[in-house]
Amino acid sequence: MIITIDGPAGSGKSTAARKLAARLEIPYLDTGAMYRALAYAALQRGVDFERSDSLAELARSVRLEVDCGPTHTRVRVDGHDVSEALRDPKVSEVTPFVARVQAIRDMLVLRQRQIGAELGSLVTEGRDQGSVVFPYADVKFVLDASVQKRAERRVQELVADGHDVSLQSVMQNLTTRDGIDSRQWAPLLPEGVAIIIDTTEMKLSDVVERLEKEVRARVSANSP
Ligand code: DC
Repeated sequence: MIITIDGPAGSGKSTAARKLAARLEIPYLDTGAMYRALAYAALQRGVDFERSDSLAELARSVRLEVDCGPTHTRVRVDGHDVSEALRDPKVSEVTPFVARVQAIRDMLVLRQRQIGAELGSLVTEGRDQGSVVFPYADVKFVLDASVQKRAERRVQELVADGHDVSLQSVMQNLTTRDGIDSRQWAPLLPEGVAIIIDTTEMKLSDVVERLEKEVRARVSANSP
């Protein structure tokens, strides 16, 4: 069973997807981590983020390994586990420049489909999982929330990770990223094609509860 969860930064999709995967006891794929890993490698190697050709060349030369479990996605770049470093605000800032390179998207979409085919069952999370990567997914969700709420959540995460950030700067960063991201690929799926959940006023536990309920309802509706 393939379950997709798409949504903008700070919509709560990462944590919700991970918790849903743990409850269903199937692997979890954080596709943002794949784009972030390439951005991290580009920072390390001093690649010019304005040069799509240089970024695509870097992506072809990097050995990217993705390990999906029910509670984690771990990513290795050239043999080094970079999973923790990927949440750094510096990486967040430059990742949209990597994600807008079509050659890189094509490469990562293929990898994501391979991972899906190998694992068979998956909760996968990103922007384009239900629309582009797994159009035949069994259940598709889109999570959304107001920009203010998304920024507040991101600040909490960053402060918990020991970063010193202001709400203002995070809001600015989210708005810029939303602009770059949404210009590049299909807008998030509409209601009817996906189940849209506005998480602005919801607790994480309620979001996870709702996701699980929707998935289980579909499983029992499809079983003989
Ligand atoms: O979900 P996230 O914040 O970890 O995503 C990091 C960046 O990667 C963000 O700019 C959106 C982009 N991204 C994407 O373009 N396609 C995906 N499937 C996942 C993330």
